[in-house]
Amino acid sequence: MDYDFSNKVVLITGASAGIGESTALLFAKLGAKLSLVGRNEAHLRAVAAECEKQKGVKPLAIVADLGTDEGVQKTAKETLEHFKRLDVLVNNAAVGARTTLLHETDMKIFDDVFTINVRGVYLLTKLLAPALIETKGNIINVSSVSATMVALGTLPYGMAKAALDHFTRLVSLELASKGVRVNAVSPGMTVSSFVKRLTGSTDEEYQAWLAATSKYIPMGEPCVGDDIAKMIVHVASEHSRLVTGTIVEVDGGMRFGNFSNAFSKQAK
Ligand SMILES: NC(=O)c1ccc[n+]([C@@H]2O[C@H](COP(=O)([O-])OP(=O)(O)OC[C@H]3O[C@@H](n4cnc5c(N)ncnc54)[C@H](OP(=O)(O)O)[C@@H]3O)[C@@H](O)[C@H]2O)c1
Repeated sequence: MDYDFSNKVVLITGASAGIGESTALLFAKLGAKLSLVGRNEAHLRAVAAECEKQKGVKPLAIVADLGTDEGVQKTAKETLEHFKRLDVLVNNAAVGARTTLLHETDMKIFDDVFTINVRGVYLLTKLLAPALIETKGNIINVSSVSATMVALGTLPYGMAKAALDHFTRLVSLELASKGVRVNAVSPGMTVSSFVKRLTGSTDEEYQAWLAATSKYIPMGEPCVGDDIAKMIVHVASEHSRLVTGTIVEVDGGMRFGNFSNAFSKQAK
């Protein structure tokens, strides 16, 4: 199957690292015009430069905090001013929550998780839906197996991702008659700096955690960013033209593994 995104404008949030970075590089290889968003300007510009090397198309790099309404508004405004259209919105940016149990939850962490992972996605989608209706484009929300797995240590992150899944279903229904598809890609454990940021682990500690937790994944290994990027591209492409309101898990079967204990040990 061929994937061609030349002349398509693709906005990817959280493109300065991890899954968003892999997704940006893959869309760049397929000829997309990219709008890339993150807070870390040096990382974002480095990813944009790598993307430009693929097909010579210069991405728009937007430094913005999607945990603020101003950052979200800036992202929508600059993208539309620059490209005058939008074909694909990838809501990927998110933060984790280093909590273990309900009574230990710092409500500041709860608020940050919901503000960035849910409110930011909600507002950005609201602002960009009219542009997507014009192009009959589509939306991919990056969720997590934590949305459905009942594993200790995933409050309130799992709740926020469950909200994102239901947002995906509801908005898919609302926009279907306008020709806009809305789906989620739901990764299992994926090698990135996500867990390291959360726990402040060294590389060695992170590698040891990956090896230990991989035992709970039925297929025996974690995903890498490209595994998730390939599914995002597939769902965003014409090959998925009647796919909407779905949550596609890319997790090596992790959602069926007994992960409860492994996750609770993540917060060291
Ligand atoms: N890694 C996993 O095991 C895993 C599993 C399931 C689901 N996921 C999901 O996959 C997505 C990507 O995660 P990842 O593993 O690639 O994590 P990551 O390496 O930590 O990358 C997260 C990205 O989000 C951006 N971001 C975070 N907060 C932001 C904010 N307030 N404003 C703007 N950008 C923000 C970060 O950019 P800056 O640092 O530049 O702000 C970074 O580019 C997330 O939705 C995550 O929930 C990850």
